[in-house]
Amino acid sequence: MNPELQIRELSEKLEYYNKRYYQDNVSEISDFDFDQMMKKLQELEKLHPELRQIDSPTQRVGGAVTKNFNTITHRYPMLSLDNTYNEQELRLFDERVRKGLDGEEYEYICELKFDGISLSFTYENGVLVRGVTRGDGTRGDEITNNVKTIRSLPLRVSSGESIPPVFEVRGEGFMPFSSFQRLNDEMETLGENQYANPRNAASGSFKLQDSAETARRTLDCYLYSFLSDQTVFESHEESLLALKAWGFNVSPGWKKVQSIDQVIEYIHEWEEKRATLPLATDGIVIKVNSLEQQRELGFTAKSPRWAISFKYKAENKPAILRSVHYQVGRTGAVTPVANLCAESERTLPYNKVKGVHLSGTNVKRATLHNANELERLGLQLGDTVFVEKSGEIIPKITGVDVSKRGLFQTEPIEFPKNCPECGSELMRNEGEVAFFCPNDSECPPQLKGRIEHFIHRKAMNIDSLGEGKIELLFDQKLVRTPADLYDLSHDRLLGLEKSILNEETGKFKKISFREKTVDNILKGLELSRSAPFKNVLFGLGIRFVGATVADKLAAYFKSIDNLRKATYEELVAVPEIGGRIAQSVIDYFAQPGNQHMVDKLERAGLQMATDEKPVVMESNVLEGKTFVISGVFENFDRDELKEKIEANGGRMLSGVSGKLNYLLAGANMGPSKLEKARKLGVTIISEEEFLLMIEE
Ligand code: IVH
Repeated sequence: MNPELQIRELSEKLEYYNKRYYQDNVSEISDFDFDQMMKKLQELEKLHPELRQIDSPTQRVGGAVTKNFNTITHRYPMLSLDNTYNEQELRLFDERVRKGLDGEEYEYICELKFDGISLSFTYENGVLVRGVTRGDGTRGDEITNNVKTIRSLPLRVSSGESIPPVFEVRGEGFMPFSSFQRLNDEMETLGENQYANPRNAASGSFKLQDSAETARRTLDCYLYSFLSDQTVFESHEESLLALKAWGFNVSPGWKKVQSIDQVIEYIHEWEEKRATLPLATDGIVIKVNSLEQQRELGFTAKSPRWAISFKYKAENKPAILRSVHYQVGRTGAVTPVANLCAESERTLPYNKVKGVHLSGTNVKRATLHNANELERLGLQLGDTVFVEKSGEIIPKITGVDVSKRGLFQTEPIEFPKNCPECGSELMRNEGEVAFFCPNDSECPPQLKGRIEHFIHRKAMNIDSLGEGKIELLFDQKLVRTPADLYDLSHDRLLGLEKSILNEETGKFKKISFREKTVDNILKGLELSRSAPFKNVLFGLGIRFVGATVADKLAAYFKSIDNLRKATYEELVAVPEIGGRIAQSVIDYFAQPGNQHMVDKLERAGLQMATDEKPVVMESNVLEGKTFVISGVFENFDRDELKEKIEANGGRMLSGVSGKLNYLLAGANMGPSKLEKARKLGVTIISEEEFLLMIEE
């Protein structure tokens, strides 16, 4: 058969089976046969690239690599939604709608609020031409190659009568719980950092440079809005039905209702039911159905007046506190962690326990932060406690069910006197809540933790190493400090193996250093030699020297030699460096072990100095004034504005607080920030007003 025909036929078949599977839930062909067909098509396209179809199904398996994502200005801004947390606020929203519509009748569409990232897709003449992230609402990143790997997203829609030549659909890109679990298991096996939640995993995966990796992570998307220059529909309902008919994966579960009471019923209906969904949801979105009425109601600066979201409160359930274990971190801080089980599992051996089912996952552990928290909660072993998952992710214990005391045996919790890892006597600094292990030169989790910190993305960014691999290197006595990493060689690494116990599942996972792994590790280490000085400084893990402080110290002192010689007075003279940081830097360099390690890193060829321009002072008109920058600006980007503020003696703050003097507000800034600033009486200034201030 001629290749052109063959390519067309294979493409059509693959798209047909894909549609059957993802839209109709029908599997007409085995996975194996599907993969074989896809391979055949890939081979043919490789041989005859000119015959490749614009909507070829091979794009679904990825392969295209994007070095830098283009920034795209959204044709229609991507707004966010106003949030409500209770029925009363919802009724106020309904009042506003009623008033805004001058007594006209209206209906609402209720939808689930999916917890992922919002995406926009543009179709031209029926073909998907662009996929863009929300970005700051005005501009986003073009991630077309990656969105094409979403199996349920049509690469082409067959031209029906009402389909305009150019239109946009929007929806929530997400990672289903099953993909999330698989990805994190894989990361664990590889000894790499796991994602904290499906939303972060989705966001990271949609922004990968290698679309083949995005494809492997099996992302999905629910569509919930349609936009076009033409008027195509009269209601949101019509648009959802049409999108569905055109083959889009429309967000399921939506419902048309006639009143705010019915909205509230819908909210109650999904409160429990949403836990059965295969993906994370964090609330409900309520939209006025008629598009004409949506136009009448219009928008505020940030969000439509015709829609609102209702956020569910974190789920809260009882659990039994079975035991407490103590984790020692990189800084030696000892953190108590609660081991929990469901009330029905009280008598099970702990390795058989599944945990409490909260918002789609089983919770067996929760951090208790420190000894004070144990006291504050008044916890005893055997207690029935309340566990809550805030942001659907990190479980926390919110209190004790004292009514259950006396029904079951409980006993006091004794915070250990000695380090559970190395036996050293624990200490507590005055004014600090955490007990810590002072044995920083020997205590294994401290040593391993420092290496993990060193390879962190914001430090040396060696992502070919991770917790598991470091553990293996540490066990083999190949590394004790970050500097030892640079002694590693191909021969020493190849063939190393270790089984690591996953405490949650009780299963062992094997880590083995094969050729490719070793190559990647050595490549990562090599690359890290050119990481900037500020990253190296952050990577040292000096207490209280986070990434921002490291930036400031590096910019000010310019080299490790200047920094290690600096006196306390010289350190506190640096803007924003206080006594606590200064003392910590002095203490760090006072230890011979640290001095040796830094020397060794220098010998390994790491960047120990910077040639970045120092801040050139222009004036001191902003002295004593604090600033936060938010939004998008016309003449400067945010870094330039920050430089201007500092060059004129002003100081940046990390967030809006009572200490803030000025909020420098650009276009599209978050309404919550604006509102908070207004409440706190912070002066809100525009770019022009700021420029006038410094011209003065
Ligand atoms: S409508 C004008 N519908 O929630 C606002 N958004 O806070 C258009 N989201 O950025 C958004 N599920 O990422 C809409 N069914 C749904 C949604 C939804 C999740 C996200 C979306 C948006 C954010 C708004």
